[in-house]
Amino acid sequence: MTKNQKTEELSELKKILIIGSGGRENSIAWALSKNPSIEQIYVCPGNGGTADFEKCICLNPKSKDEETIILECQRLQINLIIIGPEVPLAQGLANQLRQAGLTVFGPSKDGAQLEASKDWAKTLMIENNIPTAKHWTTHSQEEALDILRSFNQPLVIKADGLAAGKGVTVCETIDQSEDAIKEVFSGKFGTAGNKVILEEKIEGPEVSIFALCDGEKLIVLPPAQDHKRLLEGDKGPNTGGMGAYAPARLINQKELEELTELILIPTLEGLKKKKIKYVGVIYAGLMLTSSGPKVIEFNCRFGDPECQALMPLMGDEFASVLFACARGELEKAPKLTFNNGCSACIVAATKGYPDSPKKGDQIYINVESNPSLQVFHAGTAIDQFDNIITSGGRVLSVVAQGESFDKAFELAYKNLKKINFNGMHFRNDIGYQVRKISS
Ligand code: AMP
Ligand code: GLY
Repeated sequence: MTKNQKTEELSELKKILIIGSGGRENSIAWALSKNPSIEQIYVCPGNGGTADFEKCICLNPKSKDEETIILECQRLQINLIIIGPEVPLAQGLANQLRQAGLTVFGPSKDGAQLEASKDWAKTLMIENNIPTAKHWTTHSQEEALDILRSFNQPLVIKADGLAAGKGVTVCETIDQSEDAIKEVFSGKFGTAGNKVILEEKIEGPEVSIFALCDGEKLIVLPPAQDHKRLLEGDKGPNTGGMGAYAPARLINQKELEELTELILIPTLEGLKKKKIKYVGVIYAGLMLTSSGPKVIEFNCRFGDPECQALMPLMGDEFASVLFACARGELEKAPKLTFNNGCSACIVAATKGYPDSPKKGDQIYINVESNPSLQVFHAGTAIDQFDNIITSGGRVLSVVAQGESFDKAFELAYKNLKKINFNGMHFRNDIGYQVRKISS
């Protein structure tokens, strides 16, 4: 095949639909909109910031079922659908869209088990010699308590299924581990708590690595670091993530290549052995322990807010690379280039997040216009008077790039202070690992 033919095929990409409503989807839409050959980007349902970006609009069909989405994709002649969140992936939305002949970036239901069942993911890791913490899985509370007693040490207790980031308890004491086991079986997590995973507690800095896969091959993105805890000093409850930065400096290029060989490639090969053609993101959350890197979780999608820090680093080829993955022909994609800068993302959350976020407050945004600065919306909506209001716990993020992390964070924090809504709070120490100057 000649170079021209390859280019022609990928140039068919004109219209994209992104499924989701968060900051991740907002940042993907923004990154794709920079590609001059893309004509239109729909985000379903999107949020109050979707239409801020050129070529981007919300798609809000009357019904959100798969059949309506398929009909809308056909009507709008969508070339590529990107599914952002884990829930529709785990429910098999990608399967249904593919069955209808649509081109999708995001794993089918079988591949999404990498995130949707921690037990399934653990088994895949063991089968493929992927380093991870020791674990025990059981359906029975009694058996779980017996395992805890015989181990006689605090353990990490995990509900097997999707629990919106709330199904993991890192316990300090045996009593706390016992309570966490009982909580999993209390029904609090619905069917996600049908099984419990008891995991050895490991220690070390955390870093996330990402691969874009076409089912056969993969390419690796710069690593990122998330800040999961609500409060400064990594205190307080776990959240979806209060900020992130990329590229994470904990690992250098050579180490990233080693981690690709040790973790990402064996994961894709393990999926292939199970006859799973995995098209989408493999996100591996790692802990760098004194006895080497270990996987603490897999996600089957871009991390949020990590994605928001990463998107400004992507070259314009990003859209073609996702399209090539979705078509199973990554070898035809142009080489994905990355901007050399440092990218910082700070999440602004509303009062009551993560337990009971307050909604409906007006948001005032008065940031400077700067190509190295983005405001990505997450829990925002537009009210009947055209005001932007809060509609979710993580409201928006300020993302900035600079030649150093100090410069990137300085720009981000300076502009975050030009945003205001009732109950707004954020961490002042995002990126403390890579900053010399604190805000
Ligand atoms: P997860 O939802 O699986 O990402 O877990 C949430 C957080 O719990 C992780 O980011 C880690 O900080 C912590 N964690 C998970 N598994 C372990 C483990 N085996 N040992 C220590 N900390 C863990
Ligand atoms: N920020 C963590 C996640 O997306 O799961």
